[in-house]
Amino acid sequence: MEQFIFHAELKNKLEFIIEKSHKLGGVLCFHGLPGCGKTTFSEYYAHKVAKEVSVFDANSHLFDRTSAANILNTIKETGNIVLDEDAENNPHSNDNRAWDRCFIIDEFHNLSEKRQDAYKVSLEKVSKELNALFILIVNTTRERPLNKTLTSAILSRCQAIDFDIKKHHFDEVTYLIRRKYPMLDEKYIKQTLPDLRQVMKRAKLLS
Ligand SMILES: Nc1ncnc2c1ncn2[C@@H]1O[C@H](COP(=O)(O)OP(=O)(O)O)[C@@H](O)[C@H]1O
Ligand SMILES: [Mg+2]
Repeated sequence: MEQFIFHAELKNKLEFIIEKSHKLGGVLCFHGLPGCGKTTFSEYYAHKVAKEVSVFDANSHLFDRTSAANILNTIKETGNIVLDEDAENNPHSNDNRAWDRCFIIDEFHNLSEKRQDAYKVSLEKVSKELNALFILIVNTTRERPLNKTLTSAILSRCQAIDFDIKKHHFDEVTYLIRRKYPMLDEKYIKQTLPDLRQVMKRAKLLS
């Protein structure tokens, strides 16, 4: 968790879903502007709470070729599994991770409404069948917030976590960044937020 920069409100929420992952429904949605850590955190999180992790990109051909049911079958059956290193190294460890599998579907916002809605029942079904957690990752913009990006049927079935860094978080996030990367200029950070991708690139460049 230390590698991430999250304002306290978000950090608390994320620590909560790590601790209580067994109590969550089978579908999470990480949403926010590009460059706030959704994809990176989803992989970190998935390995913490699930024994096997698979990552899919909703832009891939798989997603425009066939029906949601077929895609979910493919997801169930295909490899593309990133086995957790700890589990591999120590198969007899007392593994208390809540989920057997986690499927991350990145860039879910690129599916049309019709395509999204085809998932609504099957996501829940597959989640129950396989004891699997789905994480849908959704990029939003100011013009296209979450409720204009996901259909209401999908929205009502997932637990949404907002990764956005809002104006009122800027001071706190700037403080956290400067504590870690004192060489970054406060003015530069505030001008560049909420895009942490850019800020981190610059931090690497200067370090
Ligand atoms: N909250 C964060 N804490 C630390 N680094 C971050 C954070 N958000 C983004 N980054 C940096 O930006 C890069 C892109 O992040 P990514 O997870 O792909 O963002 P998103 O999926 O929200 O567009 C990461 O490799 C990381 O270096
Ligand atoms: Mg991403």
